[in-house]
Order: sequence, then structure tokens, then C-alpha cells
Amino acid sequence: MNKEIVVSGIRPTGFLHLGNYFGAMRNYVKMQDDYPCYFFVADYHSLTTHPNPQDLKKNVFRVVAENIACGLDPEKIALYAQSDVPEIPELYLLLNMLAYKGELEKVPTFKDKVRQQPENVNAGLLTYPVLMSADILIHRAQKVPVGKDQVQHVEMTRNFAQRFNNRYGAFFPEPHPFNFGSEPVKVPSLDGNGKMSKSENINATIYLADDDDTIRKKMKKAKTDMAPTEPNSTMTEAVENLFQLMRLVSDEQTVATFLKNYNDCSIRYGDMKQQLAEDMVTFIKPIREQAQALQEDEQAIRTILKNGAEKARESAAKTLAEARKLVGIHYY
Ligand code: TRP
Repeated sequence: MNKEIVVSGIRPTGFLHLGNYFGAMRNYVKMQDDYPCYFFVADYHSLTTHPNPQDLKKNVFRVVAENIACGLDPEKIALYAQSDVPEIPELYLLLNMLAYKGELEKVPTFKDKVRQQPENVNAGLLTYPVLMSADILIHRAQKVPVGKDQVQHVEMTRNFAQRFNNRYGAFFPEPHPFNFGSEPVKVPSLDGNGKMSKSENINATIYLADDDDTIRKKMKKAKTDMAPTEPNSTMTEAVENLFQLMRLVSDEQTVATFLKNYNDCSIRYGDMKQQLAEDMVTFIKPIREQAQALQEDEQAIRTILKNGAEKARESAAKTLAEARKLVGIHYY
């Protein structure tokens, strides 16, 4: 096994969907055999938007169950809740002394939030990248599997690590964004606009918790076009998207057949969408069912989280003890 440590956080907001599956979870599953992995539910981060306290646990447990149903193995990795590792907020406090207001205010994700929710620009939101840095540095990780929107946060983590090292002595390795193997895949939404997403347009997104009929209904409404009238026409984005989805969940032969039908103008989008719906159902059903079964067994999830926290704290405690010492906090 490679020694480089992998860390990634999963936000417990919204339902996981096919975009998360192909963008993140499938990568996590591949990494767990090759690297020591720390994957956690970023529940502290989710507090920046004040979620309903009654919902928090349900959301955390669901995300854990869904990730396991997708193939994460809590025996192989540390799977834990961020809030179960108190070393993280302590390192966050130390790192906050090296993070400057000006640079935090310039972060695009922060500026977006200021625009979206001007009534709730709290300090947690401003220091979000510092907490994320603590998540990563607490295990002295080098590899951080994240989407494009998080790359700048990893860059900031590198800056904070360097700053710490310059001031107190070389200690933290520099973490980098990391994607296993190929380029991240695009999982387009069903309405022809952008990607599947947690909150925007739930009818254009296929969630891992969707039941068979919901999937069929959503697929039926998926956007297409007037159908080609000339052989080998360029595809509209909506149709290109359907083919992209088909490449993800259907077998090669099926994709080839519909592609041929498209190119010789015999394609019937209704048939294509029906086939795609059935292949999605086949793909999602076992994940949904396993995730559901796990969520009904709260005790099992609790045990998983406890064991995960134990593993995470073992690594975290070592880092924190050393970091405190370097800062000068060692009195006894
Ligand atoms: N900010 C990440 C997101 O919104 C989640 C996250 C929190 C994370 N801490 C992290 C990701 C540490 C990677 C490493 O998706």
C-alpha cells in the first residue's frame, strides 16, 4: 500500500445523486485499496447554514449509509463524523491564527455565499477554508479527492501548511487535489442544463434514494429534441447528455445501438429514454436497498462511526500533540 494519506469530506446536506456517485464516491471506493483513507461527514461545516437540529443526525446517518452502499468499506478506511474528532477544531483554532481576513474574504465560495445569503455571513462561513484545512492537515494528508469547486480550498490548505512550516518548523506535507485515474466525468442533468446537483431542479437529477418509478418518471420527462433529419447530424446538448448518461449506466452494446440509430435517423427518443430508465433502475436499486437497510439499523451505523472516530483520533492526536509543541504549547 502507498503511504500517502487521502482525506476527503462529505457534506451531509441534500440527497446524494448520480453526479456524486460518478464524481466522488466511485473514486473513494477505488482509493480505499491503494491508500490509507480518512473519509468523514463534514457535519461542523454544515452548521454554517444553520440546519434544523432535528434533521442533522438523519442526514449524517443517511450519507454514511449511502457511501457504504456505494462500496466504501469501513473496515478498510476510517469513516467518521468530523464532530467526533475534537482534535480537528483544536487544530482549526491554531490555523486561524495564520489565516488572514483579506484572503478569506477573497475566496470565491465565500463571495458566492455572501451574495446568496447576505443575512447570514457568519464567521464560520468566512473561516470555512480554515476548518477544511484542519480536516486535511490533522492527518498530514497529501491527497485530497475533491471536485473543481474545492480546488481553491486545497490551495489555501497548502498555503496554511507552508505558513505553519515557515514559522514553526517543517511539519505538514503539502496536500494536493487528487482524482483517481481519469478526468472527472460529467453527469449531466435531465433538463439539458448543466450537471446534476443536490438542490437545483430535483426532477432533473437522479438521486440514489429514488425509487424505481420515480426514476422512470424523471427519465420520461428528460429533455430531447426534434430528432435528426439528416444522417450523422451534430447532437444537441440535450441528446448528447442522454448518451453521456447511457455511457455511464448502460452496456456498450446498448450505447452503440442507439448511436447507430441516431446516425441513421431511425432513433426513437422514447425507446432510448425507456432503455436508459431501466438501466438506471438496475444500477440504483441495489444501492438504494442496501442504504435503506443500513439506515434502519442505527446501531450498526453508530458502531461504524465509533470505530471510524477511534481510528481518526489516533492519527489526529499525534498530529495535534506535535503541532501544539511546535507552537510552544507544551508546559508539562
Ligand atoms: N468543502 C467540501 C465540500 O463542500 C467538503 C469538505 C470539508 C472537504 N472538509 C473537507 C473535502 C476536507 C475534502 C477535504 O464538498
